Amino acid sequence: MKISVKNIRETNCICDALILPFVEGEAEFYRKFGTAFQKQIRKAFSKEFHGKRNELLLMPAPEGIKPERILLIGLGKKNEMSDERIRQAGGKAAVYLRDKGMKKIAVSTNLISSLKLSPLNFIEGALLGLYTFERYRKEKNSKKIESITVLSKISKRLSDELRWTETITSSVYFARDLINTPSNDMTPSDLAKTAVSLRQKNLSVKILEKKDAEKLGMGAYLSVAKGSKEPLKFIVLEYKGSKGNPLVLIGKSITFDSGGISLKPSDGMEKMKYDMAGGAAVLGVLKAVSALKLPVNLIGILPATENLPGGSATKPGDVAGTISGKTVEIINTDAEGRLILADAIGYAKRFKPRAIIDIATLTGACSIALGNEAIAMMGNDRKLLDKIKQSADNIYERVWEMPLFDEYKEYIKSDIADIKNTGGKTGSLVTAAYFLYEFAEKTPWVHLDIAGTAWVEKDKPYIPKGASGIGVRLLIDLIKNIK
Ligand code: BES
Ligand code: MN
Ligand code: ZN
Repeated sequence: MKISVKNIRETNCICDALILPFVEGEAEFYRKFGTAFQKQIRKAFSKEFHGKRNELLLMPAPEGIKPERILLIGLGKKNEMSDERIRQAGGKAAVYLRDKGMKKIAVSTNLISSLKLSPLNFIEGALLGLYTFERYRKEKNSKKIESITVLSKISKRLSDELRWTETITSSVYFARDLINTPSNDMTPSDLAKTAVSLRQKNLSVKILEKKDAEKLGMGAYLSVAKGSKEPLKFIVLEYKGSKGNPLVLIGKSITFDSGGISLKPSDGMEKMKYDMAGGAAVLGVLKAVSALKLPVNLIGILPATENLPGGSATKPGDVAGTISGKTVEIINTDAEGRLILADAIGYAKRFKPRAIIDIATLTGACSIALGNEAIAMMGNDRKLLDKIKQSADNIYERVWEMPLFDEYKEYIKSDIADIKNTGGKTGSLVTAAYFLYEFAEKTPWVHLDIAGTAWVEKDKPYIPKGASGIGVRLLIDLIKNIK
């Protein structure tokens, strides 16, 4: 799709539909477009349209102006305006027009700019909302937006913002594609190939194999991979954009989680292809950061494997070693995420990281606690937690902090090993994080549980049903703002 900025009057814009945003109750904003036009708007405001949040009204354009149609979109109350309102409006409007068969659309930015907000939020929402996943369909959807014209004064700032937005949204698309792809086409080897395809001058990629993991003593990670015939791939990406200690991002990359010998119920198991959403987010971040050449040192780690109940699978009660030397009693083979992350965190320490952030679809309890609206966040470093909270609010991939009370240590005490991999039913969101904390130790570290947010069951304004790609925008905003 082509996005261009044009400094022309709305009434002179040749397009299938011109989008006009409205604030609730303010019908007069576009009155300079002429009396015929304004009459039509006033009539709408008397009944079927009020400018309420995400309200839509498509109408034929009045005689004498170039756009074929006008789409009114409500932004809601003026005093409640935010970047997110604009983003949602962009998603709603673009998807609506696509489904009506429109090809060339344009958006007026005067109102958004008058609210001191960036019109690029609207474009971001539109692009994110228009995502589709059609790899496995013989008959592709013929309805496609071909171009979006942004009606605005042309400035360096706007074109920089546009490039930024296009890069970020294409990285979100990239992550969503990886997550939506079923596990037979997204094995650890496929994921590794995808990572290798990101190689650039500033981005190196290396893949550790099973024998490397054995040499390093990654017993916990190996124990998860044992039940599958698909070879594990421990994927390490290094981006160099500055001097100093790197930030390490670790993404849980279970390409399919059957639970292992502690087998999951079959109902809904097909969704467990999304258990690599953390890894996909990390790849998306590295792709964007290297394209934008951001001044940061970044390591991405994806411990990839399937979790299957093969004949050689780990059995409940088995004990595994870890790269850090601690032993783990594996009570439940379905608590595999923390096992692979423990070794990834141990491995990450060799980079002397300034901080480690892991992002993982770690627990079912995450969505029990927070539904599908927030990432659960826990960590040992107040400054980093606060920075992530700030970025989360900036871009509306919201986080909610949960505690890591000392008392949780008791929950995961093993009778025979240094630690066990489950702490029972109660508090399983936080005990999973506490387990990771035992491996992060003194290194500044934050854990993001995206189990509730990585998959969307019902279309949201700019997240179509399926993989959300959550984490990409959040972590890029963090990296952009981190000093
Ligand atoms: N990948 C799952 C968590 C999950 C569940 C993510 C549902 C997304 C949707 C994870 O590996 C898991 O199975 N966790 C168990 C841990 C339990 C056995 C202690 C859980 O949360 O049920
Ligand atoms: Mn599991
Ligand atoms: Zn899992």
